[in-house]
Amino acid sequence: MNAALECRGVAKRFGATKVLRGVDLRIGEGERHALIGPNGAGKSTLFDLISGRIRPDEGRILARGADITGRPPHRVSRALARSFQTTSVFGNLSVLDNLRCAVLGARASRLRDRWFASRVIEDKARAMLDAIGLHARADEPAARLAYAEQRALDLGIALATDAPLILLDEPTAGMNRAEAAHALALIRATTQGRALLIIEHDMDAVFALADRVSVLVRGRVIASDEPDAVRRNRDVQQAYLGVAP
Ligand SMILES: Nc1ncnc2c1ncn2[C@@H]1O[C@H](COP(=O)(O)OP(=O)(O)O)[C@@H](O)[C@H]1O
Ligand SMILES: [Mg+2]
Repeated sequence: MNAALECRGVAKRFGATKVLRGVDLRIGEGERHALIGPNGAGKSTLFDLISGRIRPDEGRILARGADITGRPPHRVSRALARSFQTTSVFGNLSVLDNLRCAVLGARASRLRDRWFASRVIEDKARAMLDAIGLHARADEPAARLAYAEQRALDLGIALATDAPLILLDEPTAGMNRAEAAHALALIRATTQGRALLIIEHDMDAVFALADRVSVLVRGRVIASDEPDAVRRNRDVQQAYLGVAP
């Protein structure tokens, strides 16, 4: 079976700095996969390559078997949806309108849907509003949401596209522990059955959420396995976790 996402020998340099040195990564259909690694390891850069913001120097990227290497973001948007390390909601639009835009953007690329578009968009946007727990804030400008709520909206925007693969870059960054736990529970509930690639620093959260974990260190994946196996991996302990399990 094709993987939801596959990176084969992906390399990227900025000037003289080799940020990624031949990354191999495989995310199965419906799999929740965490990408961990120290700051500066190249995690966000890998997301930029997968989502088409920048092109790799070497290697191939496949989504469900289709080669998407170097395709610009608007041409990979049916294959995957991404949230960024910082929030990217439209602050002056209402919460619900942010979700309507996300659904509309995704649907607009599928012409056959236009016949019943408005009803579908409304239902989908409202369902997502409920799923992310922002029902009571539907008509408020997104800028008035608390930070953690804005991140929940980011998640909703990514999910509203119905893309089979979701990329989340540090969705709990800047949250306190309670907010992060809540956000991760939300991510767990809303990504059921979809392929997820999540960059996350909180190890407890990673090991609780992910089916598999890949560890990126200095531009290479040094381990990719089930959470317990990664936790026991000597290279990982040495290079990254820095502590005995
Ligand atoms: N556009 C860019 N130009 C030059 N250097 C970059 C660029 N983007 C990232 N880098 C560098 O690449 C390295 C990896 O960054 P990044 O992918 O953001 O790491 P991570 O997300 O794992 O913390 C860092 O040293 C960063 O400074
Ligand atoms: Mg990053």
